[in-house]
Amino acid sequence: MSNVVVIGTGYVGLTTGACLAHLGHHVTCADIDSTKISRLSEGRIPIVESGLENLVREGLRTGRLHFVVNASQALLRSDFTFLCLPTPERHDGSADLSYLQTALETVRDDLRFESIVINKSTVPVGTVRFVERVLARPDVGVVSNPEFLREGSAVHDFLHPDRVVIGAVDQAVATRVASLYSTLTTRVITTDPESAELIKYASNAFLATKLSFVNQIAALAEAVSANVDDVIAGMGSDKRIGESFLRPGPGWGGSCFPKDTKSLISIGSTSGIDMSLIRSVVEANEERLEQVVDRIEHLSGSSLKGKKICLWGLTFKANTDDLRESPALKIATKLISRGAQLSAYDPTVHDTLSSFPLMFIFGSPLDAAEGASCVVVLTEWDEFKWIDPVLVAARVDSRTVLDARGILNRSEWQDNGFTVSGIVC
Ligand code: UGA
Repeated sequence: MSNVVVIGTGYVGLTTGACLAHLGHHVTCADIDSTKISRLSEGRIPIVESGLENLVREGLRTGRLHFVVNASQALLRSDFTFLCLPTPERHDGSADLSYLQTALETVRDDLRFESIVINKSTVPVGTVRFVERVLARPDVGVVSNPEFLREGSAVHDFLHPDRVVIGAVDQAVATRVASLYSTLTTRVITTDPESAELIKYASNAFLATKLSFVNQIAALAEAVSANVDDVIAGMGSDKRIGESFLRPGPGWGGSCFPKDTKSLISIGSTSGIDMSLIRSVVEANEERLEQVVDRIEHLSGSSLKGKKICLWGLTFKANTDDLRESPALKIATKLISRGAQLSAYDPTVHDTLSSFPLMFIFGSPLDAAEGASCVVVLTEWDEFKWIDPVLVAARVDSRTVLDARGILNRSEWQDNGFTVSGIVC
């Protein structure tokens, strides 16, 4: 088993560290946020991530997982150093590598002789070469080993991967990195660094394409009175298409797809390749948000001015507390600009959001629905499926529901006098 240092304890770094400790490696996770590190050292994790807290506690108990602010000591004996740092989007859509650069300058002189540095975060094509240049340590191997972790099921995805991708110049270095995952049953794809980096972007952009495609087909199905679920079941049964990532929604969001699609377009433009398809995928997603807002306006009787709209779900998807690039919040912004008054419920949001001072947050979905002209389901939290329409009917002003995630039992709601709408019709 190996000695590992993980720099950055966001959801990628923390999951990587805790899972590698679970697989038997000795892991030190480092972060500049000292408050976070002291909480993690007590087994308290700052995010909602299924199974992660248990693994962190297991690692602390077995002594295979440590949290530090300064990784210098650990780096001196580390075989592998994972870089799991944020790469935020710049104004022009390109990725900002300044966190990476600062971290590299900090660790450069402490890296053990002939150890390996691994890029885990999603970084532009060419970043392995950038890391090599900044480190200026010819004895240290630099590798791309992208993550394919979904928020909310990151632990499961790490321990049961569809594939492990390793991009290295030197095959012997790739083999050493592969040994970290030797207890997992999966396909290991070894390639050059640029290909590994592009695999990550291509995968996310393809999934986003699938979603924009299915959202457009869902809109069309609603408009021509076809059954959306049947159309998707019919398409998804074709093995070449596949059933996953075909659930229509109010638009895709989160910390990855919006950033990575824009970054891919930017990489294309600096490489002289017009990524026109991906641009259309991004535009279609913007249109989807607009369609939702138009539909709410239509359902509320043509104008949203002064209307109370209740939002069920604010996170970008269920089983996470992440609000970054959430379609629900983008829709909220558009509704407010058209004059709506918003009330909201989300199981992970308990206080007023600073960027939405006038959106009232309630502790239950029923309280949020009080006096509403329209209830809108924006995140597919399971608890919304089980809400009794009779109880909602007693609280709302108008029995109108827009189910943007397609999770409600339509006939049950209709039997209780509700108009239940999809996004288009
Ligand atoms: C995504 C990828 O799925 C991961 O493989 C990748 O590692 C990660 O980005 C990353 O780059 O770090 P994540 O952002 O956690 O993971 O979210 P997804 O589960 O992929 O969902 C993205 C968006 O698509 C959400 O807004 C979700 O609601 C939406 N979605 C997903 C649908 O509308 N329908 C679906 O059928 C699936």
